[in-house]
This record gives sequence, C-alpha cells and structure tokens, in this order.
Amino acid sequence: MTPSYGSAEALLTHHLGSHPIVGVRPHVVERTARQMIAQFPGDVLYAVKCNDADPVLDALWKGGIRHFDTASIGEVRQIRRRFPGAVCHFMHPVKSPEAIAEAYFEHGVRSFVLDHEEELAKIVQVTNRAKDLDLFVRLAVPGEGAVLTLTGKFGCDVEEAPALVRACRAFARSVGITFHVGSQCLDPMAFHRAIALCGQVVAEAGAVDMLDVGGGFPGRYRGDEPGFDLFVATIKAALHQYGLAGTPLQCEPGRALVADGASVFARVELRRGASLYLNDGVYGNLAELKWIGPQFPLRAIRVGGRHGDAPLIPYDLFGPTCDSIDSMPGPHLLPADMDEGDWIEVGQMGAYSNALKTRFNGFETGGVVFLHDDAFDRIRLEASLARRGDAFAYAQAA
Ligand SMILES: Cc1ncc(COP(=O)(O)O)c(C=O)c1O
Repeated sequence: MTPSYGSAEALLTHHLGSHPIVGVRPHVVERTARQMIAQFPGDVLYAVKCNDADPVLDALWKGGIRHFDTASIGEVRQIRRRFPGAVCHFMHPVKSPEAIAEAYFEHGVRSFVLDHEEELAKIVQVTNRAKDLDLFVRLAVPGEGAVLTLTGKFGCDVEEAPALVRACRAFARSVGITFHVGSQCLDPMAFHRAIALCGQVVAEAGAVDMLDVGGGFPGRYRGDEPGFDLFVATIKAALHQYGLAGTPLQCEPGRALVADGASVFARVELRRGASLYLNDGVYGNLAELKWIGPQFPLRAIRVGGRHGDAPLIPYDLFGPTCDSIDSMPGPHLLPADMDEGDWIEVGQMGAYSNALKTRFNGFETGGVVFLHDDAFDRIRLEASLARRGDAFAYAQAA
C-alpha cells in the first residue's frame, strides 16, 4: 500500500530513509483532470508515458479520464489491467507486429497512429484486414514555441500526408490526423500553425473523421505561461478558420494534467560553496530540472531544526551519479544557510520525473507516497516568500 501523509512536513518527520521520494497529491491531479475535461471540446486522452505511477493513474481516473494515449504494449497492458473499461489509443507511429497483434486481439485496441505506408501495411496485415480500425496519420509540424521540440523523428510531411490519408481510408473504419507541437509549448499559435497544415491536408485528401491535437500544453512553472483555456480558445479559432470546426476532436496531454500533482523531495549530501550535491538528479527524478531549466518552485524543509528563513541565494544543483551530465545548473534559489542533511521540495514535478528515473550507478529512489496538503506550485511559493519579505530578492535573482 502506498504510504500516506497529511503534509510534506509530516512526510519528512516520519520518513526515515535516505532515498529521494516522490509525493503525489491525488486531489490536485483529480481536480486538474476535471478542469481540463470541462474546458476541452472533445476527448482528453492522458499520455501515460508522462507519469505511469498507480496513484497518478487512479487520480486521473477519479477525475474522469477514460481515454489513454498508450505508446507501448507495456502501457496498454498496464492500463487494461488497472481500468478494464478504459479506451487505449496506440499512439506510437512505429510499432512491432507483436505489439499490434496483442493490442488488437487481446486488449481491444482499435485506434492506431502511423506516419508511413509500411506501417499501414503492417497494421492491416497483422490485424487480418480488420474492418474496425480507427487510423490516425501523424503529421510533422514545426516545433517553434516548445521548450522540448519533438521534430525530426516522427510525422510525415504535409505533401505526403494526403496520399497516406487516402490509403488509410481504403482499410479503416475512420481516419484522423494527429500532430504534436512539442512539449512545454509556450505559444498557443503553434497549434494554430499545426491546424493550418491539417487544413491543407484535408483540402487535398477530403474530410477526415477525427482530429487529434496532441499534447504539449505547458506546466505553469514560472507562472506566466499561457493557460489551457487560451490554448483551447486558439485551437477552436483555428478549427473555425480552416473549415475543421465540425470535426470530432481529441487531445493527448501529459504534462499539463499531472505537473502540479507531485513534488520531489531530495536531500543535500554535501554543500560546496554555492553547489549543492543531492541524493537525486538527472538519472533519478529530476531530469526536468536540467532539460526544462531552473524554473521549478523550490523550498527547504527542515524538520525540528532551523527554519528556511535565511535570505535566498542562487545555487547550482548536482545529482548523485559520477556522470558530469548529472548537473542541474541554477540559479536555484534556496536559503543561504543550506547544509548537509537539509531536504528540499521541488514542486510541480508530476511530469517526466519518476517516469524517467533509472538505476544508473546503483542509486535507488525511494518510491511514491501520497500527500494531502496543497500543491507546492509557483503561487504557493510566491505567497510564502511574500510573507517572509523575500519576494523582491526572489524576483531579482530569478
Ligand atoms: C504522441 C505524444 N502524445 C502526447 C505526449 C504528451 O506530451 P506533453 O506531456 O508535452 O503534453 C507525447 C510526449 O512526448 C507524445 O509523444
């Protein structure tokens, strides 16, 4: 059973281990799911790769998520086992024949994505020319506006897509177009540009049955990222402009659904000047601190000892492995008196944290626990800094 604590402070009072911990706040995940489902005019699929921990999946289910973007047979099995009534969509453009066969015949998956005629031939052959396939053509779109672009690996060009859509029509019950604008996309107009490309494909190939606008909606780590409502408004306007307004819609968010719903707790093992060496890092739960950058809310939690009320100063963080890639350059703002044995909470770490952890170099992480306090996000951080009078110092250093 997953251990459960009333607050982050209670976790660190009772948690005697020395491993880093992921604290999931299921009420936050559930609330976000309800909000996004209410705002989006179509099905909201959760991209399981983002965080496949059972407490996260259960909270999403409770929040009303019934559709899942499963990108491997392992994810399909996991979702099927946990939620027999769920709808799995196999959204990886390159699948093994074994994975397609198991997904179709054993798990009832009907929705598959592809970006090449050979993949279409494979799906058709492996499913014995099934008559109930829902096929999506993945379109390559520019990655401008995204912190982590997904360009260059998947997706067919807008020139190739019409022929592939027509080819799918010969075999499929329904045909759709999908794209992904890149993760942590900060520009709603990236969706507008992608939908314009879909409009071009439809103009040549004829109407499609579904449009899947992918994921990419940002976590609000800095606080000034556009909200989901603005992305939805931009998507609706673009669909209208390009004559796609009546097309049934779906999206596949990962990050935006779960980012706020978990924190990572890591311990300082050594301080060397303005460098803190932690028990967690790029090969553990904290890869995003490197790839997205130093924009996650941080705070020191000292149980029963000094409080984190010294002025904030910028630090660089390092993970525990021997690889120099395992560094998370700052400025990460933490109290000036940080020392060995202090724990830090990194907020808004529900996305791509525990899902990416490895056992590289023999370092273990301590698993997942439930927390029942408020999300530790940018708003809560700034409120607590304002109470301490540190907001100005914080704004300047950031
Ligand atoms: C096909 C697909 N859909 C959805 C997602 C989720 O993206 P995000 O977490 O940026 O919303 C990804 C992430 O890589 C993806 O590859």
